[in-house]
Amino acid sequence: MKFSVCFVTAELAPHAKAGGLADVSAALTRVLHARGHDLLVVLPLHTALDRTGISLEPIDGLDGLSLQLGSQHFRYSILRGRRAPGLPDLVLVDCPALYDRSDLYGSAADEHLRFLLLSRAALDACRRLGFAPDILHCNDWHTALLPLYLRTTCAGEPLFARARSVLSIHNLGYQGVFPYAVAGDLGPAAALLDRGEAAEGRINFLREGIVHADTVSTVSPTYAREICTPELGMGLDGVLRARGDEIVGILNGVDTDAWDPRHDRRLPFHYSPGDMTGKARMREALCARLGLDAGLSRPLVGMVTRLAWQKGIDLLFDVLPEALSRRAISLVVLGSGDPVHEDYFSRLAADHPPLAAYRQGYDEELAHWIEAGCDAFLMPSRYEPCGLNQMYSLRYGTVPIVRRTGGLADSVQHFDPRTGQGTGIVFNDADPDAVRWALGHMAALYGERQAWTRMVANGMARDFSWDTAADRYLELYAQAASRPR
Ligand code: ADP
Ligand code: GLC
Repeated sequence: MKFSVCFVTAELAPHAKAGGLADVSAALTRVLHARGHDLLVVLPLHTALDRTGISLEPIDGLDGLSLQLGSQHFRYSILRGRRAPGLPDLVLVDCPALYDRSDLYGSAADEHLRFLLLSRAALDACRRLGFAPDILHCNDWHTALLPLYLRTTCAGEPLFARARSVLSIHNLGYQGVFPYAVAGDLGPAAALLDRGEAAEGRINFLREGIVHADTVSTVSPTYAREICTPELGMGLDGVLRARGDEIVGILNGVDTDAWDPRHDRRLPFHYSPGDMTGKARMREALCARLGLDAGLSRPLVGMVTRLAWQKGIDLLFDVLPEALSRRAISLVVLGSGDPVHEDYFSRLAADHPPLAAYRQGYDEELAHWIEAGCDAFLMPSRYEPCGLNQMYSLRYGTVPIVRRTGGLADSVQHFDPRTGQGTGIVFNDADPDAVRWALGHMAALYGERQAWTRMVANGMARDFSWDTAADRYLELYAQAASRPR
């Protein structure tokens, strides 16, 4: 069956990216388009959106549209963004009053309006382009109210008669919680809001989406189970459990157009399992670029991450200085976020030249260099819905050291030297001792060349292609499409 899919997202790689949502939006829509499904990919025309490779065109009749959200009136236009052959066109919502900001996300009082407008504009785009979706694919809290609009403003519209909503949760840690006072901005959807939440004086966008979407998915099987427990349910485990077995976990794939050491556009040297010379060159080039000691006697460990509580950075506070003082590892970190974490890494790098380097900020090219040039990649996440970097690491022959949680548990298998099976180092607990053990274990294995080479080869042989994940999404769409209203 061919589906017409309206895919609505706040991020899309490489143009507008804060994290993995961007990679997933780009890869999934590309694969579905390549398989002949009809895609309408809708996102905001953020000022921060990199327009390289997008040719923007006005669409007749979709200029100077207006939308009333509560007491505020917004004017916006819908533009078509043509891209390279093989990529679906984008539908970009241009509303400078809401999207002319330095970052993709903010904390101003109108944050909810930015994504209400995106959701309403996506429906308007369907109407005005005569696009009758089978599936309205919403992602995270930003677009989680779309299922409510489908049941209210769109009810009775023949264009939406077949439409079923799919809500994909990429991260339960961000729920879009706003004071109940903004309910008037929601229009007809406000009628469906949860009474209990209203009594508490708040609206929780993600919670509403979970309750009202036809189908709910998340980005790994383990996370799908974890979020139904009080430990990782972040207050929403009750509503998730209430959906019974319906929370489907689909492990993200790797976008091999962007992430493949054989032809990565951002790398000067390339390699494959059969010839790893390029990886050795990347290691030297990375060390030269960052002024790091390139000694092969100790493993070079990399991290590329948002610096947020989720990522377990605080577990490293004592462990990394100890390992660097013992000269057991070299380290390169790229990331930005929590100022406490940024200060920590700045100090760490200042205290341990030339064994440690830290680059604050967002740098797509350096992220690829780190994946290619390092021996190991550290992800001590407290929770991780899927995580992409551990899968990139496997593909790049860089041994992932991960905590057994969410998608990390589903994608990395702990290496057993006796059997030669396994792809990385997996530790159980979110505590510094566990990280200490994992780093020590990794460093010991690094010294055993045969075991190390085997572990690297096992990882490089793993296939996390989007084809498999796309098959699962298509099954999900088929299930959603067959649901009665
Ligand atoms: P999350 O979405 O929680 O941030 P993921 O592992 O799913 O985690 O995806 C993170 C994505 O963002 C990866 O593609 C990673 O390379 C990228 N990324 C994170 N921080 C940076 C940074 N500072 N510079 C470049 N890329 C980054
Ligand atoms: C989120 C999660 C991450 C996941 C990504 C894409 O930001 O934190 O684990 O890989 O979304 O689904």
